[in-house]
Amino acid sequence: MQLKPGSRIYVAGHRGLVGAAVVRALERAGYHNRLLRTHAELDLTEQSAVRAMFERERPEVVILAAARVGGIHANSTQPATFIRDNLLIQDNVIDAAHRSGVAKFVFLGSSCIYPKLAPQPIREDSLLTGPLEPTNEWYAVAKIAGLKMCQAYRRQYGFNAISLMPTNLYGPGDNFDLQNSHVLPALIRRFHEAKERRDPAISIWGTGTPRREFLHVDDMADAVVFLLRHYDDEGIVNVGWGEDVTIRELAELVRKVCGFQGDLGFDASKPDGTPRKLLDTTRLTGLGWRPKITLEAGVKGTYEWFKEHRADARL
Ligand SMILES: NC(=O)c1ccc[n+]([C@@H]2O[C@H](COP(=O)([O-])OP(=O)(O)OC[C@H]3O[C@@H](n4cnc5c(N)ncnc54)[C@H](OP(=O)(O)O)[C@@H]3O)[C@@H](O)[C@H]2O)c1
Repeated sequence: MQLKPGSRIYVAGHRGLVGAAVVRALERAGYHNRLLRTHAELDLTEQSAVRAMFERERPEVVILAAARVGGIHANSTQPATFIRDNLLIQDNVIDAAHRSGVAKFVFLGSSCIYPKLAPQPIREDSLLTGPLEPTNEWYAVAKIAGLKMCQAYRRQYGFNAISLMPTNLYGPGDNFDLQNSHVLPALIRRFHEAKERRDPAISIWGTGTPRREFLHVDDMADAVVFLLRHYDDEGIVNVGWGEDVTIRELAELVRKVCGFQGDLGFDASKPDGTPRKLLDTTRLTGLGWRPKITLEAGVKGTYEWFKEHRADARL
């Protein structure tokens, strides 16, 4: 699609980790005509309010970065909330965007849409080839419905919707709540607080051997802007760093960045989860995009952000 500098772009979920990074990336790329609504101003689970907003404001482009997001604990204790909110948000926003004549739509899924035992690195054609990871299947089923809805609206109505599947993201604005956060922000907070208390050691769940992939959210947002401009197809696109690290390597890196002097131990009696989760990014690199922010630089920047924003961060 030909994106014009003045195109009106609605970023849904602009206060979240991804949405805020997308707003920064649009700003850097010279797209200043943005439409933003907070959750309090517009609840995306409310169909009539969403339709009315689209009819009134008529955005040309939509990036859907609003979703009910959470870790294993939140997913397993509130399965109904996760499946309901995500189905409603995407159903309302995709349909209203189509009805009001939106020219380009970006849907964000997640690597958890793929089968638990998908061959590694995970290619886009692994979708729906096997059972999902049970701990977050509610969320994953909703996301699969979302990407299928985009494909169905493209086929039936010619609606230009694309779907991106990001790996684990991290960066400024992350969620550092230990109950609900992902491994990387949780490690930053734990090492920082252990350093402050001068704890002699930190113990991490599992053996440290599982491998995980991490992508800085500013790289993710850069990929969103790139694909907004250069990709108009129904096939889903993985967005990742392309390489993974062990949890031990990640923990050593975070320890170094935070300057924690104590020991690092692993509690092998606790579960490890999937041994490896890495996305195959051949489709994306084939289109000409590559990430730039190394894990070390990204962790340093995120740690600086965490220290500066402790009062207003999600803790
Ligand atoms: N973070 C990752 O590692 C990761 C990885 C893969 C994919 N993704 C995808 O990226 C997208 C954004 O994730 P994120 O990490 O940026 O999540 P996030 O930080 O929790 O942001 C989500 C945003 O959506 C808003 N929102 C939630 N329910 C809403 C509703 N009913 N109406 C209006 N706004 C609502 C939230 O507002 P409130 O906070 O006010 O509720 C928040 O601003 C999701 O689709 C997710 O699947 C994220």
